[in-house]
Amino acid sequence: KFSVVIAGGGSTFTPGIVRMLLENLERFPLRTLKLYDNDAERQGILGEALAILMKEQAPEIDFSYTTDPEEAFTDVDFCMAHIRVGKYAMREQDEKIPLNHGVIGQETCGPGGIAYGLRSIGGMIELIDYMEKYSPDCWMLNYSNPAAIVAEACRVLRPDSKVLNICDMPVGTLRRMSQIIGKTPDELEVRYFGLNHFGWWTSIKDKQGHEYLDQIREYVAENGYLTTVEVETQHTDPSWQQTHKKAKDLLAVNPRYLPNTYLKYYLYPDDEVSHSDCSYTRANEVMNGREKEVFDAARTITEKGTAAGDEFHIDSHASFIVDLARAISFNTHERMLMIVENNGAIANFPDDAMVEVPCIVGNDGPEPLAQGKIPDFEKTLMYQQVMVEKMVVEAYVEGSYQKLWQALTLSKTIPSAGVAKNLLDDLIEANKDFWPEL
Ligand code: G6P
Repeated sequence: KFSVVIAGGGSTFTPGIVRMLLENLERFPLRTLKLYDNDAERQGILGEALAILMKEQAPEIDFSYTTDPEEAFTDVDFCMAHIRVGKYAMREQDEKIPLNHGVIGQETCGPGGIAYGLRSIGGMIELIDYMEKYSPDCWMLNYSNPAAIVAEACRVLRPDSKVLNICDMPVGTLRRMSQIIGKTPDELEVRYFGLNHFGWWTSIKDKQGHEYLDQIREYVAENGYLTTVEVETQHTDPSWQQTHKKAKDLLAVNPRYLPNTYLKYYLYPDDEVSHSDCSYTRANEVMNGREKEVFDAARTITEKGTAAGDEFHIDSHASFIVDLARAISFNTHERMLMIVENNGAIANFPDDAMVEVPCIVGNDGPEPLAQGKIPDFEKTLMYQQVMVEKMVVEAYVEGSYQKLWQALTLSKTIPSAGVAKNLLDDLIEANKDFWPEL
């Protein structure tokens, strides 16, 4: 039986993940489950309710929540990390400041992602150091955003640490694709290359080797990834529906492969900005929606003293985290898309780039599968973007204003060095409690 700590215990996703873990106890048995956060108040609201739920549904598991790193990280096998440095208040800034300059406002792409990245690096390194100090054999299953910059920072600053970087986006999109062809994700095997939130599926086959790329392409050309069965409440929000629909425009400009939907921020930024409302962004949608619902549900459970009303939804889509933990623990050799150092997986791309590719995961970690050479269009877009990510991490390490300005200037989401500078100055001001001195 395993001992797990969830870092980011106060996250709106935590209750759904705890319920998902309970659903998967047969596949991944737990002896201890701890929550860790540096915000005692926020985590306390969820922790109190989850303690009631755990006592009712899995009394054999030792459940606790704490803000003390030693308590949290002692005797753990896995740290599931989903931290958000600056919380939703700063996500709102990441989205609104760029929009006020006529630029994409998004939490992981463009200037907002860069700002969030510079906030997250310190927090991630702190977690890794706690983990290595108190449980040296522990693995970190990291899905903290912005995953691309966070993964690059881990590569540079903690190259030998046992950190596995993974994102839910390809998992969610594959589920949509499987619905389109009347299959389930576990019946399918994919080939894919890219960066996090920036990639393409090149093959979707069943285990018998039948290729579904054309069939899915035909559907996506008409409907994007909008499917008739909505399985997650998160993705029924209007902004997500619009994102899934937009895949059809991405396919139109580049019909070769099936796109990750976040490519819309790089290929159609003007259109995105014109449809955005800089006084009400995704952060507002989440704060008024999921955040309210989850914290209200927690308060209800605590007031009633029982979780029998089923207020917390199961985040079954997060079960990829269990698949990953199982791959490490039981050497399952599961095939999963992960963010890893390229080292030749994409033949004509730099070795030291953090790329997203299918990997076989066993108890030594991921072994990337060779995806061969990629075409010029995709390669050029990826190279420009990966250099943005690398320069952001360099700017963090060197404390360099100049490098960060260059990184922003290189981003395809920003039209000029002048706009980049104005944006940078506003972002520095907004992030002064979080960023290193530049
Ligand atoms: C997708 C992305 C995640 C991101 C999430 C945001 O799942 O892959 O990286 O965190 O969307 O969702 P939200 O509902 O908070 O906008």
